[in-house]
Amino acid sequence: MKTPIIAPSLLAANFAHLAQEVAMIDQSQADWLHIDVMDGSFVPNISFGFVVMEALRPLTAKPFDVHLMIQNPERYLERFVQAGANVVTVHLEACTHLHRTIAAIKNLGAKAGVALNPHSSVALLQDVLSDLDLVCLMSVNPGFGGQHFIENTYKKCKMLSEMRQQSNANFLIEIDGGVTQQNAPKLLHSGADVLVAGNFVFSSSNPPQTIAELKTGVN
Ligand code: DX5
Ligand code: ZN
Repeated sequence: MKTPIIAPSLLAANFAHLAQEVAMIDQSQADWLHIDVMDGSFVPNISFGFVVMEALRPLTAKPFDVHLMIQNPERYLERFVQAGANVVTVHLEACTHLHRTIAAIKNLGAKAGVALNPHSSVALLQDVLSDLDLVCLMSVNPGFGGQHFIENTYKKCKMLSEMRQQSNANFLIEIDGGVTQQNAPKLLHSGADVLVAGNFVFSSSNPPQTIAELKTGVN
């Protein structure tokens, strides 16, 4: 039985009631809280930053899985870790010196992740695989919640999972964008470990139950 790590994405929560939404996640079977930070430059949308994270940090002990969709994220790594980030994921496409940025995240005591846009090949990570704690495969173009899952993600996930085996690395594979109960089993069979879910959780009639169903996993 393979049971995924479930990371509901706060981007799809009701921002007028963030404390209640975090309390719901806290009491649910969710493992992590996925926090999408957007700068209006790397992606065509602006969300929230460390000030909001700091306010939410005392409300749950669950890990903050922080997805930085920002240009030159190395400028702000310390602020995000101080604000309570446990996993810090930067985009390959936003880092000129990715190896240095990964090392900087780890030096700050956080887990280091790298996210790939749908057009970026997993082969681009070959030379940093053993340095990583997590690889996030974007299964939509980043910037917005509620988009359709890109089917090519299964193939990328399988390739990455094979690369992981061959290189004896032990990073987690996270899938972000358009994840539902329908595509979750195939993703897990393709090697995924962490499922991010925004709209599928928060737009459902019973979010804690939806989280529990996603958590069921596959044989
Ligand atoms: C997209 C974000 C995702 C998003 C997922 O840019 O990185 O984390 O919130 O939301 P859904 O599950 O609605 O696609
Ligand atoms: Zn995300």
